[in-house]
Amino acid sequence: MGRYVVTGSASGMGAAVAEALRTAGHTVIGIDRDTADVTADLSTEEGRRAAIDAILEKSGGELAGAVFAAGLGPARDRERVIVEVNMAGVTDLLEALRPALAASEKAKVVVFGSNSTTATPFVPARAVRALLRGDRERATAILRRRGPMLSGPAAYAASKIAVTRWCRVHGTAPEWAGEGIRINVIAPGPVMTPLLKSQLDGPSAKNVRSFPVPVREYGTPDQLAQWVMLMLSPAADFMCGTVVTVDGGTEALLRGRDWPRAVPLHTVPRVLWQMYRAPKKGQVAQY
Ligand code: NAI
Repeated sequence: MGRYVVTGSASGMGAAVAEALRTAGHTVIGIDRDTADVTADLSTEEGRRAAIDAILEKSGGELAGAVFAAGLGPARDRERVIVEVNMAGVTDLLEALRPALAASEKAKVVVFGSNSTTATPFVPARAVRALLRGDRERATAILRRRGPMLSGPAAYAASKIAVTRWCRVHGTAPEWAGEGIRINVIAPGPVMTPLLKSQLDGPSAKNVRSFPVPVREYGTPDQLAQWVMLMLSPAADFMCGTVVTVDGGTEALLRGRDWPRAVPLHTVPRVLWQMYRAPKKGQVAQY
């Protein structure tokens, strides 16, 4: 039985994952703003530092895995706090917990992204790049220029695109995959949690309700928790840098013609460079 960190453990999908892990006999270190093993505000640097210190103390220096479910949905005038929680609330913690994860033989990390990453229009690419550089102030300024109607959804999607890309780029590097840590992302569509309920009751309810879901129902926290449990299990030993979309078909409906897609010409040099450099750096086993 292992020791797992779950952020956002007090509500919705994080709570469902924490319960599933505890039911399976694992130890959970739950992090949330309240009603958690560790109460911390992941929107501030001090809060993230406090969470990291408490986790390291409780973990005894070894973690079997971590699930990052804490997150804020799209909301007007909340751009800065959205990017703080959804991006830095994952990456700051992951960087600090890396040695504890590497201490396990095959640690698993699951990060909650969103199918908004592929379904939201008008997300400024410059904001995503700023987030990946760690410049959240600049990202927020760019996002606010989208105006009051679009800046909330754009901030949400930008934060989820950036965190997903971070997981795919860093997760496959020697310090992570090379140390046995498997980082994967789950991208839900609308799942009936307090986050979705607040959107259905809020000013953008009409837009949320008109979001097309081909299977004609919302997901449940338990369904998503089962996918996460699989992504934490030995079945995921051979899974790394993958985005698992569980969204009732929305992403395929909206973007089904966009991928899979052949490697575009301008990325061929990078792909070839990665391909031939990898074995030399010991990223893949030699047989
Ligand atoms: P939820 O609102 O039920 O739970 C999120 C948890 O994060 C709450 O317990 C909240 O207190 C915690 N949290 C928020 N800000 C925090 C902070 N500053 N410090 C510490 N904890 C904080 O949300 P839900 O729906 O379970 O979402 C889980 C994840 O899934 C989120 O990252 C969300 O963006 C993502 N997601 C949710 C979808 C949905 O339809 N429910 C769709 C796609 C992605």
